[in-house]
Amino acid sequence: MPRSIISLQLGQCGNQVGMEFWKKLCMEHGIESNGQLKNSGAEGDFRDRKDFFFYQADDSHYIPRAILIDLEPRVIQTIKNSDYGKLFNPENIYVSEQGGGAGNNWAAGFGMGQDVSEKVFDMIEREAEGCDGLEGFILSHSIAGGTGSGMGSYVLEHLHDRFPKKLIQTFSIFPNQDDSASDVVVQPYNSILTMRRLAENADCVVVLDNTALNSIAAERLRIDQPSLTEINNMVSTVMAASTSTLRYPGYMYNNFVGLMAPLIPMPKLHFLMAGYAPLTSLDQTSGGIQKTTVFDVMRRLLQPKNMMLSPGKDALAADNRYLSILNIIQGEVESGEIHKSLMRIKERNLVKFMEWGPASIHVAQSKRSPFVASNHRISGLMLANHTSVQGLFDSIVKQYDKMKKRNAYLDRFTNEKNWAGVSDMEQSREVVANLIEEYKAAAKPDYIDYLRGKLQISPVSVALETLEVAGHKLT
Ligand code: GTP
Repeated sequence: MPRSIISLQLGQCGNQVGMEFWKKLCMEHGIESNGQLKNSGAEGDFRDRKDFFFYQADDSHYIPRAILIDLEPRVIQTIKNSDYGKLFNPENIYVSEQGGGAGNNWAAGFGMGQDVSEKVFDMIEREAEGCDGLEGFILSHSIAGGTGSGMGSYVLEHLHDRFPKKLIQTFSIFPNQDDSASDVVVQPYNSILTMRRLAENADCVVVLDNTALNSIAAERLRIDQPSLTEINNMVSTVMAASTSTLRYPGYMYNNFVGLMAPLIPMPKLHFLMAGYAPLTSLDQTSGGIQKTTVFDVMRRLLQPKNMMLSPGKDALAADNRYLSILNIIQGEVESGEIHKSLMRIKERNLVKFMEWGPASIHVAQSKRSPFVASNHRISGLMLANHTSVQGLFDSIVKQYDKMKKRNAYLDRFTNEKNWAGVSDMEQSREVVANLIEEYKAAAKPDYIDYLRGKLQISPVSVALETLEVAGHKLT
């Protein structure tokens, strides 16, 4: 059965991260930078599903199902000038004619999104019509600038309306939480406004935070001053690994909804963190100095220092809990080894799950690409829903409150013609505050009572809602 996903990349960060993702996909599927298949003979009987993310042109070269959007030309021009310049369909690239970007202003990005909505959605709809079995969208962006956050928010709102039955997953780059390291002065406003759209209009958000990514690069990969390319290499590794069971399908986790359902126990709680191990496989200079076993990889994945989200450092704190875990293990592994590793993790009590529902570590096995050499026998990606994510949201709210109290830089937003106004910020703050409360409640054993009280619904409705999530949007 044909299945496909369209990737949307917005703004500087979205396009830079997105480009690294496409490079990885090309490498893993043996596709040259011009879309032609490599003739290396390495593929053997490797059966992959290139069609999930690529389609073939009349001359059979591969074209990504990707839409590249930016309000300033620099990053997309760099992509066009690179070896991969001819990979993308030129009709799927939108660069604003004004070319000035959104000036790191969410309201400007949102307004410009509205101005050019017709052009952008024409592209998305044309691409969607060309897809067999479109399952959904993957959107990459940063939440702190103007284009990826503001225009990204506009696209999210309307994508949801125009394709109500398609899943929307985002890879959202959260800014450095350290005020002194922040490069965008109105970051708190941009972040809170985008968080509202991520909460209301996305089905699944993979939260990748620059604070954690930088500290992993410095402390774990021993890179002195990590460049954006090095940081984006980690992000694109997560993106590629998280789609690997779709692209090299096995018995399970081979469609979009099947991947998301075990991770999202309730629709609101759809923010995931990611970890990757062994991280040395991202370090091109290190040799195969580790012996990797499934247990070792799974144990490392649970270590907060390997998580690409800074509140992950509190992951073992008594009052936070895992709601779900999916480990995607890549490499040749016997299922007995996986079973034994899960038993050892249980015996050692390495994971604290919530107590209000059934929970276990889901494991998906994925093949490795024969086109990419690896120093390690196996590697793993962990996607996890953990209540400590509320710590990151809490710091966003605090930074917002601090800035809003002084009404600092507010005129930059109120001067934007298409913006709903300060009420949007206040409502966004409320949405994020409610989300924090919901995650805190989900860490406690009486979460179902909390839901019953809040929604005034019967236990049966709670159970039905949970079941609906498992199969949601299937019809
Ligand atoms: P405008 O510049 O206002 O048009 O919006 P934009 O969406 O293009 O802004 P950008 O993507 O540059 O967003 C700024 C935020 O993204 C800051 O927090 C940056 O640190 C971060 N950022 C920018 N580029 C990258 C990147 O390539 N990788 C990562 N990880 N973060 C980035």
